Amino acid sequence: MSFNTFGHLFRVTTFGESHGPAIGCVVDGCPPNLRFTLEEVQAALDRRRPGQSRFTTQRREPDAVEVLSGTLPHPDGGLVTTGTPIALLIQNVDQRSKDYADIAGAYRPGHADFTYDIKYGIRDHRGGGRSSARETATRVAAGAIAAKVLPGVVVRGALVQIGDIAIDRNRWDWAEVDNNPFFCPDPGTVPAWTDYLDAIRKKGSSIGAVVELVAEGVPAGLGAPLYGKLDGDLASALMGINAVKGVEIGEGFNAARLTGEENADEMRRGNEGHPHFLANHAGGILGGISTGAPIVARFAVKPTSSILTPRQTVDKFGEETELFTKGRHDPCVGIRAVPVGEAMMACVLADHLLRHRGQVGDGTHWPFPR
Ligand SMILES: Cc1cc2nc3c(=O)[nH]c(=O)nc-3n(C[C@H](O)[C@H](O)[C@H](O)COP(=O)(O)O)c2cc1C
Repeated sequence: MSFNTFGHLFRVTTFGESHGPAIGCVVDGCPPNLRFTLEEVQAALDRRRPGQSRFTTQRREPDAVEVLSGTLPHPDGGLVTTGTPIALLIQNVDQRSKDYADIAGAYRPGHADFTYDIKYGIRDHRGGGRSSARETATRVAAGAIAAKVLPGVVVRGALVQIGDIAIDRNRWDWAEVDNNPFFCPDPGTVPAWTDYLDAIRKKGSSIGAVVELVAEGVPAGLGAPLYGKLDGDLASALMGINAVKGVEIGEGFNAARLTGEENADEMRRGNEGHPHFLANHAGGILGGISTGAPIVARFAVKPTSSILTPRQTVDKFGEETELFTKGRHDPCVGIRAVPVGEAMMACVLADHLLRHRGQVGDGTHWPFPR
């Protein structure tokens, strides 16, 4: 049994470990004749790259991406997809495997060390091996290709909460997201997060966070009921990101507090080929199918497990012991999860766009003739 592939028509297979020579992915099923540039894929990777501020791990990885297959140079510049598997490779250059020698036999609390051992009976302990979030760089590269399958769709993410400090949503400005080290859309919250995270970092501790994703321009009709619902596939893709412990679509858990009057989005005629929704509590998905309204998803990221205080644990021989974390870690992994979430959303939407086209062609047109 192997599960390193996701998607049905836009299929992404990833490979590689944190301290192996390289990580990468193969994107299969991408339509031919889509133009993209290496710089676009690199720009996506650079947003996730470690070591860009004091609030992310100091591991120095340039994350330089190579395209090995599936493209030809386009006569006007850049590359063009050929419809064959696109292989993307990222070399690992800053492994410090000796930092992990102590954990070869002992299990780091909050990590996948025990679970990989109990499942496989063997594990790559160096930086967490395959369970390391280093692998998420490959998803970001795949997401940059997925974006090309989605013309007119804009997928964006932002960090909306660190610990107990949430942004003021009235000050939300997408243009601010890349102007601070947190992907924060509210400049007013940045100073509070800076002080808070500095204190956490100096203590050698860590903290959780909430990421919000919004996809605009998604056509109505994407989603494959009943067992390939768009919200179900999105939830699965986002939950599959390392350290993600909760996913919400639209109102999410808050829907439990609302009445039917408050929650059901009323509809007016609109003029863009689909109705105008007077609100978007549904997060752009009804019955597992996109409505044409923005798709809104949120996910909660747990605090980084690797913290600097000694932790009680056991080793593979059943002995109790204590572990001191060495190595370099993010004090709040939610920050770098933002571009990863965007990429996963783009991959799911690209897959569903192709699946929708495969089943119903160009689809229907609303309003229907009488
Ligand atoms: C972008 C990103 C970076 C991460 N970096 C770290 C890290 O530096 N230290 C750490 O303890 N966990 C880190 N994690 C989380 C672990 O990979 C994850 O908690 C661990 O593999 C166990 O899996 P689980 O939390 O999904 O159950 C990171 C997660 C993401 C999304």
